[in-house]
Order: sequence, then C-alpha cells, then structure tokens
Amino acid sequence: MELIFNHLKVAHLYWKEILKPGDWAIDATCGTGQDTLYLAKLGGAGVISLDIQEEALRRAKKLLEDELAQVELAKVHLMLHSHATFPKLASEQRVKLVVYNLGYLPGGDKSLTTKPPSTLESIRQAAELIASGGALSITFYVGHPTGQEEFDLIAPLLAALPFSEWNICQHCWVNRPSSPILFLLQKK
Ligand SMILES: C[S@@+](CC[C@H](N)C(=O)[O-])C[C@H]1O[C@@H](n2cnc3c(N)ncnc32)[C@H](O)[C@@H]1O
Repeated sequence: MELIFNHLKVAHLYWKEILKPGDWAIDATCGTGQDTLYLAKLGGAGVISLDIQEEALRRAKKLLEDELAQVELAKVHLMLHSHATFPKLASEQRVKLVVYNLGYLPGGDKSLTTKPPSTLESIRQAAELIASGGALSITFYVGHPTGQEEFDLIAPLLAALPFSEWNICQHCWVNRPSSPILFLLQKK
C-alpha cells in the first residue's frame, strides 16, 4: 500500500472538507467531467463547469448523465465559456470552491491547452469571487511546456500573497521533477 496520496486524492480530500450544503463550486476546466462529477456528488447547492471545447462538454455531459441521479444532475451547469471571465450565474451564488485542472483535454487537441495569461486573470477573479473560508485548488502540469510556463508565471505570485489574507499550501513529489503540482489556497 502506498502511504502518500497523489495530487488528485489530496485535492479531493480538501474539496470534500470545504464544500457544505448551500455552497457552490466552479470547475474552471471541465475537460472529461471527472472533477465535475466528484464535485456534484459532494452534495453542495450547485456546480458550474466551464470549458472552451464543445467536445469536452459533450464527454462530460455523457459521463454525468451516466453517473448522477436526476437530482444531482439538475445542480450541474455545463457552460461553453472561457474561465477568463466567470458567468453571471457565478456572481449570484455563494461560491466556496474554484478548481483548476490545467492543461489540455485528455485524448484531445493539445494546442487547446490552458494559457498562462487567461489562467492568471481567471485566478485573480476567482480569488475575488469566493466567499471567506472558501478555496482555490489549482493543479499545474509542468511536464509540458505551456504547463511549465503557467507554473513559472503564477506560482511566485501565489507564494507572495499575504498570510494575513490567505493560507496556501503546495503538494508535489519532490523526487519526480515533472509530476503535477497542486496548490490549495484558502481565503481567510
Ligand atoms: C486537463 S483538462 C481538465 C481535466 C478535467 N478537470 C477532468 O476532470 O477531466 C483541461 C481542460 O481545460 C480546458 N480549457 C482550456 N482553456 C480554457 C479556458 N480558457 N477556459 C475554460 N476551459 C479551458 C481544455 O479545453 C481542457 O478540456
């Protein structure tokens, strides 16, 4: 049995801890919908899930329809929308968690990856949007060049956020240089 959890399991443990009934979550990178599915099963008030690719939303919709009960499915809002801005629906809810699983759609067009400037802008807006006690969960995939650029641009800015306003933690495998890196930021 492996003692140390991978980034996904660590992220899921935090998400479960943060989301309470009445809270909303945003999946800022829907992709195949696995993260959206996990969030929808946590029993919050709603999940907004964004992607710029119709193919991703199609795959996610199929997964959610196969795996969720009607009552859970009704709480999920899949939107063809860039996370560079958040939809109006998000500003009308109590958003406790915004998650980013950066990179490209598995099995899809690798050029349609998340990009450093829009990811940074999105994180800025998400930091404003979330309620006190809420969190951002950001996974960087530094094994590909754009993922490394995203990390190089954004990680130092996160590390410089004031401790009086944010608790921030990083999870990575220190002896596996290209493995994913998870940041968890909780707003005080
Ligand atoms: C690594 S995948 C996400 C994995 C996903 N969370 C899952 O559970 O399968 C990254 C996704 O981000 C999407 N994406 C890229 N740029 C985006 C943007 N500006 N806004 C929203 N989604 C974006 C890609 O189309 C891709 O589907």
